[in-house]
Amino acid sequence: MLNQWSIYTTLILLITTQTAALAGGISSDQITRPQGTAAATASNDELLKMGEQLWQNPSLSKNGKTSCASCHKGNTRMFKKSFLEPYPHYVKMPSKKAKMETITAEGMVQFCMLAPMKADTLAWDSIELAALTAYTEQVVQRAYREKQAENIK
Ligand code: HEC
Repeated sequence: MLNQWSIYTTLILLITTQTAALAGGISSDQITRPQGTAAATASNDELLKMGEQLWQNPSLSKNGKTSCASCHKGNTRMFKKSFLEPYPHYVKMPSKKAKMETITAEGMVQFCMLAPMKADTLAWDSIELAALTAYTEQVVQRAYREKQAENIK
């Protein structure tokens, strides 16, 4: 009985997640770090170096032609002012598509992997995710902050 029940619930879960995917929806589970997992670690220099390469790398996208930098040109394009708030914070796109009030930096990397890059999320324990997250928080956010400061002058 119990087994049959778990097969049914698995099936229902599968169907609902597939339908959400077809409808272009993203579930908050896909972009929230699962409990009991930890980010990969490396020295900050290594993370930033690797993060910069990944940021420019079109093979991360499904069509192999789009990189993070294609949209976020000069590390300043397509961001809104909410980007400058400390994480986790509100971002319009995931709040609309995944009904998430706030999101972490790594959640945002995963969201952009799924939605604009049309690819799969990165493994939660991968060095790639740790590197892109570090690069986003330490380099991209700073570039955008400096651009905003210039505009205010
Ligand atoms: C097709 C265009 C596109 C591509 C490609 C893309 N993004 Fe984004 N990204 C956006 C848009 C649009 C926003 C602004 C969302 C908003 O503010 O509602 C955004 C926002 C962000 C934010 C900031 C959200 C915030 O305010 O905190 C981060 C970080 C980010 N993207 C990371 C990435 C990473 C990492 C990649 C590559 C894996 C990537 N993006 C690829 C379009 C793109």
